[in-house]
Amino acid sequence: MSRAPSAVRPDLFEATRRTLQREPKELPPVWLYDERGSLLYESITRLPDYYLPRREAEILAARARAIAAQTEARTLVELGSGNARNTRFLLDALELERFVPFDVSEQMLRTSASAIAEAYPQVSVEPIVGDFEHDLGALPTEGPRLIALLGSTLGNLYPEQRAELLASLARELREDDTLLLGLDLVKDAARLEAAYFDRAGVTEAFVRNALAAANRELGATFEQGRFGYEPRWDPEHEWMDIALRALEAHVVAVPELKLELAFRKGERLRVEISSKFRRDALERELEPAELSVRSWWTDRRGDFAVALAS
Ligand code: AVJ
Repeated sequence: MSRAPSAVRPDLFEATRRTLQREPKELPPVWLYDERGSLLYESITRLPDYYLPRREAEILAARARAIAAQTEARTLVELGSGNARNTRFLLDALELERFVPFDVSEQMLRTSASAIAEAYPQVSVEPIVGDFEHDLGALPTEGPRLIALLGSTLGNLYPEQRAELLASLARELREDDTLLLGLDLVKDAARLEAAYFDRAGVTEAFVRNALAAANRELGATFEQGRFGYEPRWDPEHEWMDIALRALEAHVVAVPELKLELAFRKGERLRVEISSKFRRDALERELEPAELSVRSWWTDRRGDFAVALAS
C-alpha cells in the first residue's frame, strides 16, 4: 500500500483551521471518514431512503460493457473508493491489468483491497492512501486508464474545488484515458431530505462522528449534546447542506489548531455539502478543463447519472 504525501496530517489541520473560521463554520468532510465513519457510511448505503448506491448499481449493471468497449481500460483508478461495492460491475466487465483504489481511510482501503484482490486474482490491486484533491501525482501511468469517481463523491466538493479537481484530472489524463463520474441528480426536496435524515439515526451518527474525530485528533471539546442534527436542501446552490446546529451559545476549544470557537445559539457547523447535478451544468463545469461528456446514462427513474468524459 502506498501513501500519498498529503495523507499527512499538517495539510488537513491547516485546512480545518481555515474552514472553522469561515462563515458558516465548517469541518472538512474528510473528518467523516475515519474507521468508524467509513463503517457508518456503509450502513447508510443500506438505508431504504438512501437511493444513491442502488441507482448507481442499476446503471453500472446495464452499462459496464459499454464502458469497457468505449474505454478499453487496462488500469482502473477509483478515487474515494470506500468499500468499492459498485466498482465490481466495472471489474467484471473490464479486462484490467490493475486496479488502484484511492481513499483517505486506510482501514477501509486495506479491507476492500484484499477482498478485491481475492475475488479478481488476475488483477493487480495497488491501493493508495491519500486525498484525491492533492495527491493525483501518485497515480500509476500505464494506460488506457479509467479514472472513476463514483457515489456522487464529486458532490462533496464546492464548485471551486470541483473546478480545481477537474483541472488537475485533465492535466493528469492522457489521450486514451477517460473519466467516469457517478452523479446524484437534482430532484424534489422531500426525497433528498429523506435520503439524509433517516429515522434510525444512522446518518446523524455518521455526521456526529466528525465531532468525535475532531475531539480525538485535535483535542477539541465539541459536546454532542450541545448540537442538533440539521440537514437541509439549499435550492439556490442545489446542494444538501449537512450541518450540526448549536442548541445554545457556547465556546468550543480546539487546542491543536490554537482556536477558540464561539457558537451563537442556532449557529450551524457545516460538516458537508452534497451537491446535486444537472447534465447541462455539468457540461459547463467540464468545459474549462477541456473535458466533455461522451456518454450520459441514468437509471429508469432519472434519479442518478453515470457520465463518461474525456
Ligand atoms: C459519500 C459524499 C456521496 O453525499 O450522499 C451520505 C455522504 N452523507 N449521507 C453523500 C453522505 C450523508 C455521501 N457521499
